[in-house]
Amino acid sequence: APGNLYAHCLETAKFIQDQVPQELRAPAVGVICGSGLGGLADTVEDGARFDISYSDIPNFPQSTVQGHAGKLVFGYLGKSKTPAVLMVGRAHFYEGHNIDKTAFPVRVMKLLGVKVVVVTNAAGGLNPDFEVGDICLLNDHINFPGLSGLHPLRGPNAEEFGPRFPPMSDAYDLELRKSVHTAYKKLQLSIPTRRLHEGVYAFVSGPSFETRAECRLLRLLGADVVGMSTVPEIIAARHAGMRILAMSLVTNKAVLEPGPRGDAQVEGDVQNIMEEGAANHLEVLEAGKMAANDMQSLVRLVVDELPDI
Ligand code: 6GU
Repeated sequence: APGNLYAHCLETAKFIQDQVPQELRAPAVGVICGSGLGGLADTVEDGARFDISYSDIPNFPQSTVQGHAGKLVFGYLGKSKTPAVLMVGRAHFYEGHNIDKTAFPVRVMKLLGVKVVVVTNAAGGLNPDFEVGDICLLNDHINFPGLSGLHPLRGPNAEEFGPRFPPMSDAYDLELRKSVHTAYKKLQLSIPTRRLHEGVYAFVSGPSFETRAECRLLRLLGADVVGMSTVPEIIAARHAGMRILAMSLVTNKAVLEPGPRGDAQVEGDVQNIMEEGAANHLEVLEAGKMAANDMQSLVRLVVDELPDI
């Protein structure tokens, strides 16, 4: 029942705390690794590291997507050895989970003591200035499912976490964004061609990619990138008073131009029309692999620069 949300979170947090070695039990930073971006977990030193599969954690939503193996990794991140918990893989709404369930892990993070949540994802670029492999630091979002009723905070409010009507106008932490720009400048030598943008993330439910007309619609409404995750987690994190840093890796350029019209059916043209510009999951994973290291370096540098938390 929805009223049991806090109790479920507590049960899960207690279970985790009982498993994890004492020194790793109180992470200050939580990182949600998006499609192909889980490599950050490999930089966590083996000597002081503890993994738990989502399938072993009570109440935890399971992910079924290829390339999204599901586990929590506890360990130290970066030169500063900041205690952190990483989610390698996440559950998406399109997999069939209720929207609040996709935000459940973030609430558990809160109970574990996390203060700053870093969210990464793979997204489609709507802003024509964005190229594949660029990084878009989120400075706002449009919650399409949420605007029409599919909202992670719908239902009885969990007062233990936060208020009934939390603001979202300040969701994307300015200090953390500045820190990414600084880290990016430091890394510039190693990533001369990967540009860093700021922009607005449009959350759509998926799992189909957008049509051309839908891409034009999203662009018209002010979105720079589009994806199928992240926003429910950000809303739950803000509700519970955690600070947020969110980054999209642009894995493909959304197709904004209208396609050929009805006369295309003649002369066997249909195949070409289908292949041209279509987004696909493989493309998303490929771009992710190549850019993943740079994004990971950014996250590590930002974590290193965090004031004592
Ligand atoms: Cl083009 N659209 C959506 N909704 N999600 C994506 C994407 C596009 N590319 C990567 N993830």
